[in-house]
Amino acid sequence: MTTFVRYVKTQAMAKTVLVSGGAGYIGSHVTVELISAGYEVVVADNMSNCDMTCFEGVKKITGRNDIPFYQIDCCDYAAVTRLFDENRIDAVIHFAAFKAVGESVAEPIMYYRNNLVSFLNILEAAKTHGGCNVLFSSSATVYGEAEVLPVTEQTPRLPATSPYGNTKQMCEDILRDVVLATATSEGPVKGIALRYFNPIGAHPSALIGELPRGVPNNLVPFITQTAIGKRECLSIFGNDYDTEDGTCLRDYIDIVDLAKAHVAAVSRMVDGRMKEGYEIFNVGTGRPVSVYELVTAFEKVNGLKLNYKFAPRRPGDVVAIWADTRLANDELGWKAERSVEDTLASAWAWERHLAGK
Ligand code: UD1
Repeated sequence: MTTFVRYVKTQAMAKTVLVSGGAGYIGSHVTVELISAGYEVVVADNMSNCDMTCFEGVKKITGRNDIPFYQIDCCDYAAVTRLFDENRIDAVIHFAAFKAVGESVAEPIMYYRNNLVSFLNILEAAKTHGGCNVLFSSSATVYGEAEVLPVTEQTPRLPATSPYGNTKQMCEDILRDVVLATATSEGPVKGIALRYFNPIGAHPSALIGELPRGVPNNLVPFITQTAIGKRECLSIFGNDYDTEDGTCLRDYIDIVDLAKAHVAAVSRMVDGRMKEGYEIFNVGTGRPVSVYELVTAFEKVNGLKLNYKFAPRRPGDVVAIWADTRLANDELGWKAERSVEDTLASAWAWERHLAGK
């Protein structure tokens, strides 16, 4: 008698997440956390603001050489549709966008075209492929100079002060409207907007991290580049604000903690645990830290002296913003865990890794 062995697939098929802008700073950390949580990831990136360093780092950290990578521009609708045709996408995390505030003021058309068209294309493809879960990477910038701190998700958004900030508000609204319009269709689009506070730091492996092109706009890369000798001196923009030490207050969120919030939000969507078709969560620590405190913490944890000076205020900066994180803590079951010291040590380890030191 012949024995027939039937192979039965016992494991549920892993869900697949498309990460647009997945070769960048946040996208690469999110890809790592998704893979370690058991998701399959498809990365799309047009490489306009990064090179392959972080994607190669992701492959090393995860031990996965087979992560599908599409070098496409999400503003190219045919390319986006092809990607959806070739993969069964359960969720999209959309990072692909320009993000420099000052540049957006100088080049508004470029910013509106890129940030809006790419997102519209993702949404259209999601809609025409039977619906999808869409996570949009928003920003605390939508709150502007809030009157009451910390800000909750109910805190009113204030008119944006830059085209970049405006694209964040507009994309939030577009997502909300698409969710509403498709709610009763056979293939609904569901959406979550995560409003990030100030993401900083790098993966503990020091194989991926922030890789700004040219002179960094953001504080931590400027600090690490000054410490390594690439920049002469850090300017602390304003020490005459109405805060304890006179410098601005921000909510600095570790990049790996931030990435884990995405995994929690994606799981909530794909496991059908959303309470509304469109939801918003703050992603921060809930702790305000001043620029001066951050600089001194960096010096202390890394045992070095930083060359810095106080300089005039930077136009457009808000004096203080930090998150009320209770909604994310309760609903996503997520909490920021890494200390600011550990995060600053990781940022420095990454800068040294880049310098080969
Ligand atoms: C900015 C954007 C935010 C965006 C984030 C991305 C606005 C108003 N801000 O946040 O939307 O999501 O970048 O990371 O749209 N600082 C210095 N010296 C420097 C650089 C910065 O003192 O060389 C200070 C700034 O004045 C500020 C703090 O450091 O008080 C943080 O600045 P930055 O890292 O640029 O982030 P934000 O402006 O808070």
